[in-house]
Amino acid sequence: MSPENLEVFHRLHLPRRLVGREEAMRSLASAGLPLLRGEAPSNLVLLGPPGSGKTLLARVLLHSLEAQAPPGSRLLYLDGARLRSPALLLTHVAWELGLQVPFTGWPLAKICADLRRALEAQGGPVLLVLDGLEAGWVRGGEPLHTLSRLNSELPVPRLSLLVVSRDLRLLQSLDSRVASSLEGEEVVLPPYTEEEVVSILEERLRESDPEATREEGALRQVAAWSFGDASRALALLRGAIARGGGVTASALRECRPGSPVEESLVRMATPSKLVLCAALRVARGGTCTTGALYREYGGLCRTLGVPTLTSRRVSGLLSDLESQGYVEAPVVSRGRGGRSRSILLRVPLEELQEALLQDPALSPLAREAAGAGQAMAR
Ligand SMILES: Nc1ncnc2c1ncn2[C@@H]1O[C@H](COP(=O)(O)OP(=O)(O)OP(=O)(O)O)[C@@H](O)[C@H]1O
Ligand SMILES: [Mg+2]
Repeated sequence: MSPENLEVFHRLHLPRRLVGREEAMRSLASAGLPLLRGEAPSNLVLLGPPGSGKTLLARVLLHSLEAQAPPGSRLLYLDGARLRSPALLLTHVAWELGLQVPFTGWPLAKICADLRRALEAQGGPVLLVLDGLEAGWVRGGEPLHTLSRLNSELPVPRLSLLVVSRDLRLLQSLDSRVASSLEGEEVVLPPYTEEEVVSILEERLRESDPEATREEGALRQVAAWSFGDASRALALLRGAIARGGGVTASALRECRPGSPVEESLVRMATPSKLVLCAALRVARGGTCTTGALYREYGGLCRTLGVPTLTSRRVSGLLSDLESQGYVEAPVVSRGRGGRSRSILLRVPLEELQEALLQDPALSPLAREAAGAGQAMAR
């Protein structure tokens, strides 16, 4: 197969079919309906792990609303991964609404006052998609709080937010007033099943070249390597086609970067990496209790100068890590000591170390992880 028409593998390509997300798309579309009547829809939250189709769904929604939105309405999209601070986010919203804010920004009070005026003058609803809101600066909810407060001060609500994040606990991490303004329509996407990934790959392959052939089982192999992450699966397939080696198991194997565990660890949110690191340091190849892990985690947060999550949130992160297979954490009875979890790390040390190294906030821990690893080996 010739390496032509690789554009269909581009991250921003809108595929002909949305595999396995019909229900989620229906929920988003019906939540967006008020916009077509000229009213601001309620805020929406779209959550899911990497490569689960969040950006695609948000873009399909914007696309379909764009075609029918009444005059005066506006549809805006911002990629939060590139914004890095609440002030920058507000500046970008202001730019989108046509305000002449300098690169150095404006004081909060001025930007809010001007945004309020711009929204009032808009004459119709504004749907703002905030994609990729998983970084530390979003937690606590300062930028979202500012935007929702702004809206509530208008005579008629104009601004609706569609908040998109990999952080499944985003709402819990926000200020309660912001979280309650975002409650309502929440769509949570699970990772794709192997069958769904195979269908996504098949569809994309057909779009790229209707005559394309492939070795039996090759796409299933890619799906198994991708851990339900469609971006990862598509990147592999694209790599094999670009090399001109055809869609064969051996060509795909050559394109396979690093180990999938390492990749998913690198992309994991910082608090979860910290929890894994605490488990590594305290358990040292054995098991540890939730209490010991939390103490270690608190110490790491203080050392690094990052905010410490409550023990309840850490316990939630631990449950997520368990469901993803990174730890085992069965509840065991400790006699008079009551019941607590016995935590065993299931992540290969080298891969955890690599993930820590690649996270600027956590790289100082990587060396120590190596020390803990040597202790495990002894
Ligand atoms: N249901 C689907 N059908 C067809 N293609 C899909 C589907 N879901 C995702 N894709 C494709 O997979 C890739 C990743 O999807 P997308 O960028 O939407 O994931 P994401 O959840 O936003 O990931 P991230 O958390 O990394 O931002 C894109 O190329 C997209 O077109
Ligand atoms: Mg995305």
